[in-house]
Amino acid sequence: MMNLVEKDTAYVWHPYTHQKGRLPSIRMVKGKNTLLYDQEGNTYIDAVSSWWVTIHGHGNKYIASRLGKQAAILEQVIFAGFTHKPAVSLAEKLLKILPGDFARIFYSDNGSTATEVAIKMALQYWLNKEASHRTRIVALHDSYHGDTFGAMSISERGTFTMAFRDKLFEVIFIDPPHKDNLEQIKATLEPIAGEIACFIYEPLLQGAGGMKMYKPEHLDPLLHFLKQKEVVCIADEVLTGFYRTGKLFAGEYLTEKADIICLSKGLTGGTMALGVTSCTQKVYEAFNTDDRTQTFFHGHSFTANPLACTASLASMELVMKKKLKRRVGEIQAAQARFLEELYPFAERKIIKNLRHLGTICAFEIAISETEGYLAGIGQKFSAFCLKSGVYLRALGNTIYIMPPYCITDKELRKVHQTILRFLQQLIRNN
Ligand SMILES: Cc1ncc(COP(=O)(O)O)c(C=O)c1O
Repeated sequence: MMNLVEKDTAYVWHPYTHQKGRLPSIRMVKGKNTLLYDQEGNTYIDAVSSWWVTIHGHGNKYIASRLGKQAAILEQVIFAGFTHKPAVSLAEKLLKILPGDFARIFYSDNGSTATEVAIKMALQYWLNKEASHRTRIVALHDSYHGDTFGAMSISERGTFTMAFRDKLFEVIFIDPPHKDNLEQIKATLEPIAGEIACFIYEPLLQGAGGMKMYKPEHLDPLLHFLKQKEVVCIADEVLTGFYRTGKLFAGEYLTEKADIICLSKGLTGGTMALGVTSCTQKVYEAFNTDDRTQTFFHGHSFTANPLACTASLASMELVMKKKLKRRVGEIQAAQARFLEELYPFAERKIIKNLRHLGTICAFEIAISETEGYLAGIGQKFSAFCLKSGVYLRALGNTIYIMPPYCITDKELRKVHQTILRFLQQLIRNN
């Protein structure tokens, strides 16, 4: 008789996991607040919010009770021709808080679909406006917008997309804006500006691309330039939404507002799969015509699933509490103080590129034998942390912390101390 983990090894294929010789998965039996419990009774602080989603931590009783009630009322219904209260209430709520003049909410079911929808919306916007020459898409180097084909096409070409490189559509990649490159970016885009349909960007934080951070004062002039050219600007806030960067949305740091915004991850407090793509009235009007071929032909079986929308409404109530904002500020301050503790390691060239934004801090291991996602040091780091009761998943040689907002001071300190001990061990072994 196989036990559950052996069956997992025999029957299940896990994401982003090399299969041959993979270690047995750890069986998790419970999650409560920041802690994950395995079958042996070990606990782990989930310091990456389970792939950046569980902003309120695990097992949130309020969200669970709302979900339970909704499950008994209406769990799922086709969303073409029918509607329901959770979907409408959530749309109304989101439109009040989104950073810009957004007018419509289009639902899907994850971050990749949210960005796919955004790109399709922007391309068809121009087609519906009979400007069929506006077909080019601009994206940033080091971007990540998801794993479906459209989302891969608009993401940096690299390890994740290599196997499919011949099948991805053409995109113009520009460097993320910094203090010196605006003129050069303008010079590249100016001659073709009239052909550009849209520009997609992760505002201020490029997550899966390596937790790279850039500044609003550099993004704003780029957005200004593109908006002057009527390029549809798409903010991918799948990761940055709901206080990750210290403000409710990263877009709040910016003067120039997006025409389309994408949300997922923290949208439901990380409890249910849901994606949102919201657009301005101007974008929407291109679809509000007499010509039925101009319909937006996109939808998913679970579009606006009532349970997911309910979870999101419940999460949003928690997000809007003053005490959550205060806690985000405290975490932000603690992460900044932690960077100061890391400086001596940077001076010894053990680590580099120390940075923090909102609740996130990140740096690279500088003595790694390889750089990038496949760097072996990341696996050693994660194994070290697990033994210490902390779950941190490095992106190659990039180490970052992205905790749930319910993390206690003591738990965050434990996460910091675990990283410090790992770095001290690195010094001893080198
Ligand atoms: C900025 C951004 N966009 C899109 C996605 C894709 O989201 P999902 O994994 O839900 O498809 C991610 C996931 O990490 C992301 O960070």
